[in-house]
Amino acid sequence: MDGKALQGVRILDFTHVQSGPTCTQLLAWFGADVIKVERPGVGDITRGQLVDVKGADSLYFTMLNHNKRSITIDSKHPQGKRVLDELIKKCDVLVENFAPGALDRMGLTWEHIHKLNPRMIVASVKGFGPGPYEDCKVYENVAQCTGGSASTTGFRDGPPLVTGAQIGDSGTGLHLALGIVTALYQRTRTGRGQKVLCAMQDGVLNLARVKLRDQQRLKHGPLTEYSQYGEGIPFGDATPRAGNDSGGGQPGRILKCKGAPEDPNAYIYFITQAPVWGEICDVIGEPGWKTDPEFATPKARLPKLNQIFARIEEWTMTKTKFEAMEILNKFDIPCGPILSMKELAEDQSLRKTGTVVEVDHPTRGKYLSVGNPIKLSDSISEVKRSPLLGEHTDEILSDVLGFKAAEIADIKNSGALSAPEKKEKAA
Ligand code: COA
Repeated sequence: MDGKALQGVRILDFTHVQSGPTCTQLLAWFGADVIKVERPGVGDITRGQLVDVKGADSLYFTMLNHNKRSITIDSKHPQGKRVLDELIKKCDVLVENFAPGALDRMGLTWEHIHKLNPRMIVASVKGFGPGPYEDCKVYENVAQCTGGSASTTGFRDGPPLVTGAQIGDSGTGLHLALGIVTALYQRTRTGRGQKVLCAMQDGVLNLARVKLRDQQRLKHGPLTEYSQYGEGIPFGDATPRAGNDSGGGQPGRILKCKGAPEDPNAYIYFITQAPVWGEICDVIGEPGWKTDPEFATPKARLPKLNQIFARIEEWTMTKTKFEAMEILNKFDIPCGPILSMKELAEDQSLRKTGTVVEVDHPTRGKYLSVGNPIKLSDSISEVKRSPLLGEHTDEILSDVLGFKAAEIADIKNSGALSAPEKKEKAA
């Protein structure tokens, strides 16, 4: 393998919490040198959130910050600003996900950065793009709600639901990573940096695009693949929540297997794909449905999906989800067991591919993480533990910026790299 894909790319990582760190972690996995700038004394707030091992960085932090180096800098201290300016000159990309305006308030405006380093790409995650909400702070579930996911998730007779997959934070981080490598590619032609902006609302809406598709289909009649069509319930003027109905043209549902509902994950997703309808009928013991005009065609089946899936569930309930999967796979019937996080953590094939990895950490010991889910055939991918707060401060000041020992001592003595003394006790 020819080293790492992004070898030679240096990232000034001003990210925190989840969205930005997801992006820079991906770039680090691909070999970029990611220098995470953290506030002295505190660092990324997630280091101390949802703590499970006292005194150690949380899993929230460690699982989002692999392969990075950490430097602590007070970005509002004059000497801190000086260090940041030097870093800007040495890096290819600055990534940030501060609240709107925070970067400018630090003095790091686009003009300032561009003047110091015209090749620098400045990539940002914000909650919203330009418009009425552009100044709002945004977290995951807010993005899910404002990006069209929550209004289309859940059951018709229940409230909107947020999903467990972090489509607002991690989803937008993924979008941003693509924007960055695209801008890096364009820079090979133009020699110029540019701004890259991903709004979380936009990222979620992009992932919910099939629901905007359905919004427009509503004008031309009911959405026949939604269960409510078969149940005779009229559609309103907005894409409704569709429970576990499949989002494509092939009807699908989550069905109970042996052990449900006591085992909360003894379920399987089952798709009644038209080309294998005959095989489905044989497997469940309804061979007559293959030729019965009431069931033989996809169109005839649409109003009867509840009846059909109830019959299929009678069969799936006689099998464990894994037995059902094995039988259905023989006939190419699309299905998938509902896997718990416990089952995924123990899955040996995911360990083999590096999608689930065990990482050792000096203060917390061994833990599991999701590795790089994007596999390149000619690029080495390794998962290294997240840095301790400020672990690489000296190394970055000397090796990256070329500061001499005396200069480093001066900067340190100025207080730009350490937490301010707690003054309130003296007061
Ligand atoms: N040195 C000195 N000050 C620092 C610093 C450093 N190294 N790093 C951060 N700060 C300061 C910022 O300058 C800011 O100060 P200001 O308000 O005086 O300008 C302050 O810390 C707080 O930053 P902010 O980004 O506002 O953090 P927050 O905790 O108040 O808000 C979010 C968190 C996530 C809501 C907000 O950052 C946000 O909306 N980000 C964009 C959307 C996003 O990514 N959301 C998802 C996060 S997973």
